[in-house]
Amino acid sequence: TYVVTDNCIACKYTDCVEVCPVDCFYEGENMLVIHPDECIDCGVCEPECPADAIRPDTEPDMDKWVEFNRKYSEAWPVIITKKDPLPDAEAMDGKDGKMDMFSE
Ligand code: SF4
Ligand code: F3S
Repeated sequence: TYVVTDNCIACKYTDCVEVCPVDCFYEGENMLVIHPDECIDCGVCEPECPADAIRPDTEPDMDKWVEFNRKYSEAWPVIITKKDPLPDAEAMDGKDGKMDMFSE
């Protein structure tokens, strides 16, 4: 599976949702997640993210992100249409300590 990681927080560009063939992105207040059981591993979303927040779970230490994506994808509504990024998306891209800004 692919997963959304912390650099999505406070950016939420949403370019990713437009390309997913199985509509498996789910939307929280300030980030998206991927449902790990619905993702077909096609990889097309990864290069679409301007914040480079989408990673394959084959990279090291991704287990916690798979569980995080699973947990919130089961709680949040699906998103299938691109919308405007969050207002500070550019400034927030690459900032440290993004988990402290996460809002469910
Ligand atoms: Fe969707 Fe493919 Fe990205 Fe998985 S890898 S979330 S199926 S676009
Ligand atoms: Fe987040 Fe990147 Fe999608 S910032 S909303 S994973 S395009």
